[in-house]
Amino acid sequence: MLLLIQNGTVVNPGDRTELKADVLVEDGKIKKIAPKQKVKADRVIDASDCYVMPGFIDMHVHLRDPGMEHKETVETGAKAAAHGGFTTIVAMPNTKPVVDNSDVVNYVHNKAKDMRLVHILQAGAVTRGQRGEELADIESMVEAGIPGLSEDGKTVMNAQLYREAMTLAVKYDIPVLSHCEDSNMVQNGVVNADEVMEKMRFPGISNSVEDVIIARDIMLAKDTKAALHLCHCSTKDSVRLVELAKQEGIRVTAEVCPHHFTLTSEDIPGDDANFKMNPPLRTKEDVEALKQGLKADIMDVIATDHAPHTAIDKGVGIKKAPFGIVGLETAAALTMTELVDTGYLTIMQMAEKMSYNPARILGLDKGVVEEGKPADLVVFNAEKQYVIDPADFWSKGRNTPFAGKKVKGMVMATIVDGRVIYEK
Ligand code: DOR
Repeated sequence: MLLLIQNGTVVNPGDRTELKADVLVEDGKIKKIAPKQKVKADRVIDASDCYVMPGFIDMHVHLRDPGMEHKETVETGAKAAAHGGFTTIVAMPNTKPVVDNSDVVNYVHNKAKDMRLVHILQAGAVTRGQRGEELADIESMVEAGIPGLSEDGKTVMNAQLYREAMTLAVKYDIPVLSHCEDSNMVQNGVVNADEVMEKMRFPGISNSVEDVIIARDIMLAKDTKAALHLCHCSTKDSVRLVELAKQEGIRVTAEVCPHHFTLTSEDIPGDDANFKMNPPLRTKEDVEALKQGLKADIMDVIATDHAPHTAIDKGVGIKKAPFGIVGLETAAALTMTELVDTGYLTIMQMAEKMSYNPARILGLDKGVVEEGKPADLVVFNAEKQYVIDPADFWSKGRNTPFAGKKVKGMVMATIVDGRVIYEK
C-alpha cells in the first residue's frame, strides 16, 4: 500500500528543517521525502497549505478504562486522540482497578492493539492501589511494557517510598511522571487561591501546594539520578525551579497543559465545573511565566491531562464536581492560537513540544519525519479557523471550558503506521 501526502510543508524536528515536499509512505514507514514525486499511489492526501508534522504524542491522558467506561473507554479515547492529531498517547493509571500490576497493563495494551487506532502506552502506578503505602508490582509492569511510572491524580507523600520508586525507575530505565500536590496542604481547595476566587467564595489551592512537591521531587531526582518528568505545571515558580534544576544538570523535564497557558481564574464565569481541574487555573502572572518558559524551552512538553467526566458528574457545581477537563481534541488548535500565532513558539517548537520531546522522554523511535522511520504523521492546517463545539468531540467527555471559543488550526488527517485513521 503506497500513500502519498502531496504539497505540504514537512516539519522535521529531528534536524529542525522545514521543507516543501511530498511524503511517500510504504508498509507503515516513510519511504521518500522529496518535492513533486511522480508515483502511482494507492491513496493520495492533498496537504496544500498544510504542515506535515510528526504525529502528536500526548504524555498525559485519562482513558477511564477499566472501571469508568461510562466516562471514556480505550476505544473512544483513541478515537478522540486520532481526531486531535495524536498518534501515541500515554494512559494514566488512576482507573478502577488502579493499574498497579501487569494484568491491568496487558488489558489496556491488548484492547489498544485489537483496535489498531493510535498507539496507547499504559503507565504504571507507583504504589499499590495508589494508596501511597507500598510499592506496586513495578517489575512485572515493566515486563508488560509500561513507558513510565506515575501516581497521577495524587502525590506519593512518603518521600522515602518515592525515592525507592525512583531508584527502580533508574534500574529499569523509565521516567517517573510526577503529579505534584501536597495532599496535606490542599485541604478542601477547588480553585486557585486568589482574590477573585475568594470573592466567589470558593476555597483555594495555593501555588505552594504544587511548588513544595516540585522542589522535593527535583531533589529526589538529584539524589537518585532518575529521569523526572513534572506533569501539568501551572505556577510561575515551577518554571523557575525547572530552570534551576536543568542548570544543575538534574534530569528533569516538564509539561504544560493548554488550559494552563490559555485561561486564568478570572475567566471562570461562575459556578461552572467545566473550569475545574487540578492543578487549577492560576493568575495572569503564572500564565505569562508558563508561556515564557515554553518559549525559552525551559518547559519541554505540551500535554493535555485529558480527563473526561459525564455531564451529570460535572453538573453539580464547582465545590462538588470532580476535577478535570477533556483536552485531546482542542490541544493542537489552542497551541496554534495561543502560542504559535501570537509569536511565543515557532511551528518547529510546537512539533518539538507535542511530538519530538515526548518521544525522547519516553524513549520512543518517533517524533520525526524522516525516511525509514514509522509513518506516524499529522496533516495540520494552521490557517483554518473555527469555533470549538463539544458536540463535535469524539470523546465521551464534553467537559471543556472552551465551548464557543474561536480558534485557528485544524487537524486534516492523522496517520498511524501508514494507515489513515482520521481524515477531515
Ligand atoms: O484535573 C484533573 N483530573 N487532574 C488530575 O490530576 C486528575 C484528573 C482526573 O483523573 O480526572
